[in-house]
Amino acid sequence: MTKDVNSLQNLINNNRKWAEDISDKDPDFFPTLAKQQAPEYLWIGCSDSRVPANEIVGLLPGELFVHRNVANLVVHTDMNLLSVLQYAVEVLKVRHVIVCGHYACGGVKAAMQDQKLGLIDNWLLEIRDLYHHKQDQFKGIENEQEKVDLLCELSVVRQVYNLSHTSIVQDAWAKGQPLSVHGWIYGLKDGKVNDLDVTVNESTQLSELFRLKS
Ligand code: CO
Repeated sequence: MTKDVNSLQNLINNNRKWAEDISDKDPDFFPTLAKQQAPEYLWIGCSDSRVPANEIVGLLPGELFVHRNVANLVVHTDMNLLSVLQYAVEVLKVRHVIVCGHYACGGVKAAMQDQKLGLIDNWLLEIRDLYHHKQDQFKGIENEQEKVDLLCELSVVRQVYNLSHTSIVQDAWAKGQPLSVHGWIYGLKDGKVNDLDVTVNESTQLSELFRLKS
């Protein structure tokens, strides 16, 4: 049987079934959503196809604002991420920002190796720098996978602080807007999310150098 390479009919079919199933259960679902969105959460996750944001936390369309990039990084000059963050915090007024990394992340692994991959090496430098900076914590760990997983966790923590240091998050706190920044990690092997317990709720949790005054 030949397959029409130009057609993704199976995906379109899946979509029709999905939309019909939802509409059957709740005929107002799509018309209501079309008028507005009011998500409580912004998700910053890895592009990895095995870490689908909404599914993992059981949220429907309209409930989760999402930004994904390779290795779930928060880079202070990334206009894409900053725009998502600004819109989510200032306009949608999300209550929570979740950075969700995952164990065995290919981006993290690549940042620990000497194999040249091209343009993406620049993006992953953020993690390579962190690995260099945290060398002491890796002493005594022989297992490669364990090293990768530790760096996956350390990177999530780093990204939580990177987010908290932005003018966007700082402005929200200065205005008294409730906003929490969380660091989570997802296990590809068991499908479970774990809270790394590094939540930041206010600027007093940051070192003084990063607390901006207006
Ligand atoms: Co990844």
